[in-house]
Amino acid sequence: MVTRKLNVGLLGCGTVGRGLVELVARNHTLIRQRTGVELAITRILVRDAGKERPGVERNLLTTHPEKVIDNGCDLVVELIGGIEPARALIQRSLARSKHVVTANKALLALDGFSIMKAAEIQKVRLGFEASVCGGIPIIRALRNGLVGNQIHSLRGILNGTCNYILTRMTEDRVDFNDALAEAQAKGFAEADPTLDIDGHDAAQKLKILAELAFHAHVPAQAVLVEGIRHITADDIQAARELGYVIKHIAAAECSGDCMSLQVHPVLLPGKHQLAGIRDENNAVLVRGDAVGEMVFSGKGAGSLPSASAVLSDVVDIACHQGGFSASQGKVLDTHAPDDHGKHYLRFPVDDPSAIAAITTVLERNGIGIARAAAVWAKSASAQNQVRVLTQDCLRSTVETSLRDISASGVEKGQGIALRVMD
Ligand code: HSE
Repeated sequence: MVTRKLNVGLLGCGTVGRGLVELVARNHTLIRQRTGVELAITRILVRDAGKERPGVERNLLTTHPEKVIDNGCDLVVELIGGIEPARALIQRSLARSKHVVTANKALLALDGFSIMKAAEIQKVRLGFEASVCGGIPIIRALRNGLVGNQIHSLRGILNGTCNYILTRMTEDRVDFNDALAEAQAKGFAEADPTLDIDGHDAAQKLKILAELAFHAHVPAQAVLVEGIRHITADDIQAARELGYVIKHIAAAECSGDCMSLQVHPVLLPGKHQLAGIRDENNAVLVRGDAVGEMVFSGKGAGSLPSASAVLSDVVDIACHQGGFSASQGKVLDTHAPDDHGKHYLRFPVDDPSAIAAITTVLERNGIGIARAAAVWAKSASAQNQVRVLTQDCLRSTVETSLRDISASGVEKGQGIALRVMD
């Protein structure tokens, strides 16, 4: 096999960057034997060249981006994250005809089309496998493996931090803030973890996947986003008693000329394919017209899984240097669906008669009640609650009822209304 050298300039040496350096050192011989590509990381951009980075050669480090981009590399890997300076450095790399590999979901969700267009104009390639679901090759599956399908829907667990927090709260009864601190210590959480727990990270990933799956442009504001910060240990326990687990789910559906995208916590039946996805793992359930349902699952965050995805793009670009099309595809209507289904509702209250007032409002609005219970706190620090599991009903009717109940004055504080997925 003829061996070709590929010089890689690396922008950023955080969790994923260090993982990439480690993986290239560990597996470059294997990659050469398999593909004929001899990889070399030639320069690494860092903020502080004096910082200790075990396993990273100090003489490769620089604080000057031009020494990475303009210094004879064939391909630039951007692992800085965020919008600027990542966008400017990617644009600079493309303008100098460098292939680019990035894990930057925030930037792709905001401005992916113009970056793809710039790559197409320069006749270079843009790889972004690591931007969604860490080590799971879901981008490649949608672009290549499933290209012969019409994709009808995607449903998945796209945020490792939320899944880690919910798993620790469910299995080990760990407090929300402690579980978040663990996810931060393990390096899954974003620098600003509100992006994880309020659902924006999952929304960015869902937008990237939906654009590939439906070959359509998705406006950012088309994604309905809810996070997990209001979920309590009591909600998790109540869900368990009803046979459900609470998961943070991203869902996209396309039907005719319409698509809908939502990110929110839901109650899943214990036997659902996504219910058993634990810790920082991610999963995506894809439904295509030819393949039916397929599940992709694995590590969605972390140093080496994300580095594995980056490396897959690097090697793929080295082996097949054709351009990617930046075609934006069709324009579909996006709508916030008035979805229907069962709902789990929890209201903080201070008076036992509140259960009658709450169920009366729900029934008056046409919502059937499968179960209702008043749960009285065992300690002074806990909260008295009314919990309701509804029959199938429209989400909009639930929202109207929540407003009516809030206006009636029986609710004392922040409640919750979670969808139940069967
Ligand atoms: N903060 C992200 C997550 C990292 O928790 O999934 C991987 O994109």
